Amino acid sequence: MTPIHTYILGIESSCDDTAAAVIKNGSILSNVVATQSIHKEYGGVVPELASRAHQQNIVPVVQLALQKANIDKKQLNAIAFTRGPGLMGSLLVGTSFAKSLAMGLEVPLIEVNHMQAHILAHFIKTDEQSIPTFPFLAMTISGGHTQIVKVTDYFQMEVIGQTLDDAVGEAFDKSAKLLGLPYPGGPLIDQYASLGNPKAFLFPKPKVGPLDFSFSGLKTAVLYFIEKNSKDNPEFIKENLNDICASLQFTIVDYLMDKVKNAVKQTKIKTVAIGGGVSANSGIRKALQETESNLGWKVHIPKFEYCTDNAAMIAIVGELKYQQKLFTSNAVVAKARMKY
Ligand code: KG4
Ligand code: ZN
Repeated sequence: MTPIHTYILGIESSCDDTAAAVIKNGSILSNVVATQSIHKEYGGVVPELASRAHQQNIVPVVQLALQKANIDKKQLNAIAFTRGPGLMGSLLVGTSFAKSLAMGLEVPLIEVNHMQAHILAHFIKTDEQSIPTFPFLAMTISGGHTQIVKVTDYFQMEVIGQTLDDAVGEAFDKSAKLLGLPYPGGPLIDQYASLGNPKAFLFPKPKVGPLDFSFSGLKTAVLYFIEKNSKDNPEFIKENLNDICASLQFTIVDYLMDKVKNAVKQTKIKTVAIGGGVSANSGIRKALQETESNLGWKVHIPKFEYCTDNAAMIAIVGELKYQQKLFTSNAVVAKARMKY
């Protein structure tokens, strides 16, 4: 028999954030994220350093999540964890920890696909976000993925468009690096963009299939743009940072909007949800809200803390799977590449 109150612990360790969260009947009781700052010095995530930091962080992060939820580990009904996709060394830490804890507590173990979790984060009950109805389109935009997914049920998802090269988060981060900004540069571009003119400079929008994305050309265009202008004026970046960021963000957001509009046209599904770190971007949030009123879409934008990597999204998937008794054997292994 399913207990009246189910407490599920979610554990996320797929990249450079060590995170743990406790969910009770759809509501998040605690959501703890330890972001690894070590990677800033290197301008990107160093996998070996990420796994070492996860190893250090995992126990205190889980303890804090339990403490904030005000429960004892013995009250947990199941342990959900990110099995993949992600960096193997990072995934191994969360997977091994989750397996041991589930075994020790004699509770079910639940594997979670990180990308599904970014989408299913919309099902967390909170006043600050609305729950989508099926079918809906999800645009997952992060540092590792850029996809448009047709979602017909919790675990029925079909990728209908995706990037052919870099992810959109990489386009933000790599452009930021060229501008001399620290990693991850996406949030900084967003910040400077709010002070600049989005029409100051023109960047190209790569031409690929209607639902596909390509960002590697943009990175090269930014490189040439900076080289050319800095030759004439070594202070070019400093003097124009806000305008460059605003123009760059405008181009990327416009490109994402073109693609999602194509997907709505093709599928005739007008309910659109976004997920992944880049959905924290103020430009894409605003553009989607405007389109909602202009084109009669129903748009779902996650709460900020459920956009970037977090364990609350792992915990909600844990709960959805718990209800359906979709448990995982303790012999499960982490998977760097994983489909929906
Ligand atoms: O989902 P996420 O936390 O990790 C991955 O699974 O990749 O996404 C991280 C990405 C980074 O590329 C970061 O620069 C980007 O999300 N990001 C943003 C913003 N906040 C995070 N990009 C643009 N604007 C933002 N406000
Ligand atoms: Zn992610």
